[in-house]
Amino acid sequence: MQQTPDSANPFQDPIRFERRIPPCSVLIFGANGDLTMRKLLPALYRLAYERKLPPGFSIVGNSRTALTHEQFREKMRVSVEKFIENSPFDAQLWEDFARGIYYVPGDLSDPAFYLALKKQLEEIEKERGTGGNVLFYLSTQPSFYASVVEHIGASGLANHEGGGWRRVVIEKPFGHDQASAQELNSRISKVLPESDVYRIDHYLGKETVQNVLAFRFGNTIFEPLWNRQYISHVQVTAAESIGVEGRGAYYQEAGALRDMIQNHLLQVMATVTMEAPPYFGSDAVRDERAKLLRSIKILKTEEVDQHAVKGQYGPARVGNENLLGFRQEPGVSPEAQTDTYAAVTFFVDNWRWAGVPFYVRTGKRMPKRVTDIAIRFRKAPLALFSSMPGAEDSPLAAPNLLILRIQPDEGISLRFQSKDPAGGGMKLRPVSMDFNYGSSFGTRTPSAYETLLLDALAGDSTLYTRQDMVEASWRAVEPILNHWNNTKFDFPNYAAGSWGPKASDDMLARRGHEWRIP
Ligand code: BG6
Repeated sequence: MQQTPDSANPFQDPIRFERRIPPCSVLIFGANGDLTMRKLLPALYRLAYERKLPPGFSIVGNSRTALTHEQFREKMRVSVEKFIENSPFDAQLWEDFARGIYYVPGDLSDPAFYLALKKQLEEIEKERGTGGNVLFYLSTQPSFYASVVEHIGASGLANHEGGGWRRVVIEKPFGHDQASAQELNSRISKVLPESDVYRIDHYLGKETVQNVLAFRFGNTIFEPLWNRQYISHVQVTAAESIGVEGRGAYYQEAGALRDMIQNHLLQVMATVTMEAPPYFGSDAVRDERAKLLRSIKILKTEEVDQHAVKGQYGPARVGNENLLGFRQEPGVSPEAQTDTYAAVTFFVDNWRWAGVPFYVRTGKRMPKRVTDIAIRFRKAPLALFSSMPGAEDSPLAAPNLLILRIQPDEGISLRFQSKDPAGGGMKLRPVSMDFNYGSSFGTRTPSAYETLLLDALAGDSTLYTRQDMVEASWRAVEPILNHWNNTKFDFPNYAAGSWGPKASDDMLARRGHEWRIP
């Protein structure tokens, strides 16, 4: 996306368009964890492979485990080789890249540890010319976020005398409800200004989610239809075929509503429904997202059962495999009341969307992995053609369906009615117009973490969540969390490998709608 001089908006931030990363380091707290190995290091390596990182770029990892620089490098090499997707591993490049990788073991609650980090960063600055610019990445257990930032402040790591920048990326979850998100923020904001706090939501970094903005605001033909006059309802689905994959203990406390809807799916929904920003700059875009999140109707306790469905999978045999039920997973209590499936009907109380249901669902152990957004348009006002099932109130009577496919099989399809040439007469049949990323662009898509890390290094927070957005999305799910917390559910209520509990179908059926099978 190159900006031309005559299109320049005085408020537009040029870094969004030309990525110029100054010399810098990334310091990862919790570098022995899964996220570092599966996502962060492979993403940084890919950026190096694409020559997007500056000379002297360095990484400092840390955790409690005692490792030498060399042992840590070796560990990272193994995980990069394993987890870089669709890219070759270049051993020569790795050699150069690995020279900039360091490791400092230590205890997150020990002030001396932060002094050791400071010393390591100073040495790197001298040896590799990083200019004192540091991106701290908090990938620790969430309970440490506030105290790590406080230690960063107390040890003098939050500022650099030579004028280098210091930013902090904070992994999800940011709080576990509105009050804890506020409390976390108030502790962080005593150390760093909001402009240096990058709350990550990796869904916002997905190419296909970013493309929703391009699709809506880079074209003229869809936006006039993008409202309650033409849209009957919207379905957002994020289904996963995997179970909890060894994260039973975390997931038991979190549950699907917290793990996926409060953050990822509400951000996706905001991307689909927000107003056009006046220009493409970080606060302009985030103001619109925040405004939308604040417009979500807050459910009353007595409305929750009508608008939200909680599910948990039980054991099942799928194909040749015996799948465990959630309560049988390691680390999970046999009485767990956790939601491994959640479906919510949201409403957006503004002039564009009043009355349009947004059905949002997510679940583990669904029949397949798929994330998409299905926008169902209203039916034609008259059933002109006798074969058009418009007379009945069937879901087929609303033939226009726009599907934004987030993953896998990334693309966009528009379904509409067409005359079927077979058999003569005006017989109609739904057909599809398809756009597919793979065949249209043929290039590799950067991972969400590549995009987001590059953005944070460039100082661009457009795709990061701001405190007001985080709070608004907690507010939207909190009545549901509270009500579920106070209710005992008869679980399991769906079989592993199925599309979720029947109550979820009933929730849509009450409005004459039904879930699409993606
Ligand atoms: C994470 C959740 O944030 O997102 C996981 O904690 C979930 O439970 C994951 O599996 C899904 O991400 P993606 O990119 O694989 O759709």
